[in-house]
Amino acid sequence: LSTSAAAIRPASWNSWNHFHCKINEEIIREIADAMVDNGLAKLGYEYINIDDCWAAYDRDSKGNLAANASTFPSGIPALADYVHGKGLKLGIYGDAGSRTCSKLMPGSLGYEDKDAKTFASWGVDYLKYDNCNNQGMSPQPRGVDDPGTWAGGVGNSWRTTGDIKDTWASMTAIADKNNKWASYAGPGGWNDPDMLEVGNGGMTTEEYRSHFSIWALVKLPKVKNNIIQQTVHTFKQAPLLIGCDIRSMSKETKEILSNQNVIAVNQDELGVQGHKVQQDGDQEVWAGPLSGGRIAMVLWNRGSTEASITASWSSIGLNASTVADAHDLWTDEVISSVQGELKETVDSHACKMYVVTPK
Ligand code: GLA
Repeated sequence: LSTSAAAIRPASWNSWNHFHCKINEEIIREIADAMVDNGLAKLGYEYINIDDCWAAYDRDSKGNLAANASTFPSGIPALADYVHGKGLKLGIYGDAGSRTCSKLMPGSLGYEDKDAKTFASWGVDYLKYDNCNNQGMSPQPRGVDDPGTWAGGVGNSWRTTGDIKDTWASMTAIADKNNKWASYAGPGGWNDPDMLEVGNGGMTTEEYRSHFSIWALVKLPKVKNNIIQQTVHTFKQAPLLIGCDIRSMSKETKEILSNQNVIAVNQDELGVQGHKVQQDGDQEVWAGPLSGGRIAMVLWNRGSTEASITASWSSIGLNASTVADAHDLWTDEVISSVQGELKETVDSHACKMYVVTPK
């Protein structure tokens, strides 16, 4: 593999897709342990992000957010210490409205400074900021429906869609919705098509492989040093967010989440979001440029039977006369000296993903 693991810093884990509100500090600690023990941390998965439902129902007597005493009895600073002790970082969840989306904890409306300072003082490294129960307040006076035009000024990434579900229908619909935002992405801010469902059980292994391939292709993160009035520490990338229980992953799930070839595409320094470049019914080609004149390309068969897909060089931004090697990122095989197009058979709901290197 050409990219050294140490150079790759992709990604994170978030509690929501698997655990929803059923979280506690023991789970978070065990997830941090698992991240290190199963090798994902070495591949760059770095942030352990607690989603909704970590706080007490009400603020404390001083108006501060407080951890839920029964589920997080040791408090967030102790958890941050634990996670940092593993060489990882801790993320937390807040909301711009009066209550978070679950309504089980307070939002930050009217407490923005206070809460940002609280998170920073607790050693929190990352904030996911939701917008439920916002009492009619716009997230931004202009461009409410268009976070791509302003959200890069206050965060590293923004959601482009509703919540993902652990189904093929939801995952493919979200891929398409997020695709429409491709031109907004770039160094400074990233479209977030929501967290991964890989490993949660609702899709087949091939569907999850497609999910991971496309999410890696469309999220090519860069550094952005600015988050909530700079009181919470910066984070280095819009992360590829694992959403399953990594304490008990199947072999297949681990294999998907650990594919260094695919992670390297996500982390490529050029930082251009890949998008859908060719569609013929259910047969699609997604592609995007990488550093060094290379191109990442996914042949995706969304149909219910095996199909042949031809990716033409003109769709992916190469001259028809270009001769290139195509590295299959899932089998690790190289198809040498291909010219003009690549034609491959792809199983139903599966994909083949390549890095194409012109000679
Ligand atoms: C919203 C978000 C989800 C999750 C939940 C928590 O629905 O989009 O990702 O954070 O809130 O309640």
